[in-house]
Amino acid sequence: MGGMDKPVIRPRRLRRTPALRRLVNETTLRPSQLVLPVFVREGLTEPRPISSMPGVVQHTRESLKRSAAEAAELGLGGIMLFGVPEVRDERGSGAVDPEGILNVGIADVVAEVGDALPVMTDLCLDEFTSHGHCGLLAADGSVDNDATLEVYADMAVAQAAAGAAVVGPSGMMDGQVAVVREALDRAGHHDVVILAYSAKYASAFYGPFREAVDSALLGDRRTYQQDPGNALVGVREVLLDIEEGADLVMVKPALAYLDVIRRVRDVVDVPVAAYNISGEYAMVEAAAANGWLDREPAILETLTSIRRAGADVILTYWAAEAAHLLD
Ligand code: PBG
Repeated sequence: MGGMDKPVIRPRRLRRTPALRRLVNETTLRPSQLVLPVFVREGLTEPRPISSMPGVVQHTRESLKRSAAEAAELGLGGIMLFGVPEVRDERGSGAVDPEGILNVGIADVVAEVGDALPVMTDLCLDEFTSHGHCGLLAADGSVDNDATLEVYADMAVAQAAAGAAVVGPSGMMDGQVAVVREALDRAGHHDVVILAYSAKYASAFYGPFREAVDSALLGDRRTYQQDPGNALVGVREVLLDIEEGADLVMVKPALAYLDVIRRVRDVVDVPVAAYNISGEYAMVEAAAANGWLDREPAILETLTSIRRAGADVILTYWAAEAAHLLD
């Protein structure tokens, strides 16, 4: 008898032309979804290259302003500022000093771009402490959660006073979002947004960042950052931060934690950011420099994968370049 043979199912039909591929594209990547992290270093007269992050520099106050103006012109989603002070102490005093490098950098950038580009700040003590930890140390050398919260509150107010539109508590202290929200509100900064680094893992991929900020850290951050094997606690920390008042939440790093990004995206009703961190940047740059990868497609594929996993916003050192590539 023999009826018709079963037809071959042909998914390739939808891939035949660029126009068909565009029609069925699921994942957008736009400059407005990208945030550029930048470093400003006290006392520099020339931008200083960071050898472990080719193409990224420690900015002078002047070159920082130019970078911010460019980011605004490119229509990026924002700029995230890190400060590198000349002098550090046990309490990270430079973080709360209005004349501290991060706070003057914020004011410089805000004067340059106004509200055209959301100016975001890393709210953490590790760049400012002589021991390199994200908080204050207790007598036994452990990181003292609640003593640290008091400094974070002052740091948030100092950053808001300097003009920050968004503060990013990244020290992984318990209760940090609630304390920062309360301090901001008490000082009248009701409109300042909190981007909480909620699910932040103790990662080997932060390596190049330690050079970028001349980190003094000996040891590790495993008593406050999360264990790489644990996804549930990532979701738990995100939900806690939302309860405490986070406006956006972040998963960090991105590439080794794409599953955590997806889990978080599936359960929250706030925007989710992911940080494509220094080591993820350095891996691609190093391989491309060796001729082992085609650099530009690798950059776009990396960012697309983070968006596909569920990130609404990506912090990436490639933000400006990706905006040009997407043009
Ligand atoms: C903490 C902070 C770190 C990074 C961003 N904020 C370092 C750390 O937690 O150890 C890392 C970013 C990167 O690696 O690109 N201030």
